[in-house]
Amino acid sequence: MNPKKETNSMSEWTTVGTRNQVDPDSPLAAKIGEQHIGIYDVDGTLHAIEDICPHAHAHLTQGFTDGCEIECPLHNAVFDVRTGKHLRGEPCSDVATIPVRVVDARIEVQLAPPQA
Ligand code: FES
Repeated sequence: MNPKKETNSMSEWTTVGTRNQVDPDSPLAAKIGEQHIGIYDVDGTLHAIEDICPHAHAHLTQGFTDGCEIECPLHNAVFDVRTGKHLRGEPCSDVATIPVRVVDARIEVQLAPPQA
């Protein structure tokens, strides 16, 4: 699906997929410009985090999900997809969380406004 933007003065929401593309065992990977985003279903609620592992740049969505946790496919760092917090495994920083919502079955993420 091609990302579709809705912009106002405070935020920018971009459609990245449809609700039926994400379930607890299958996160959705999206790319908007240079930003990689992973969208996860935890008990029916969607969460979005940066999709690049801060340790060595693997795509976290290609890792292993277990409830609210995602394990990096390369060296097994584990993150909480609800908070982006690094929980265990290879030492590295947390990953950023990204606001996500569902509107008429479309998944939208809120991107930070462009830097001036
Ligand atoms: S790339 Fe993710 S733990 Fe190394």
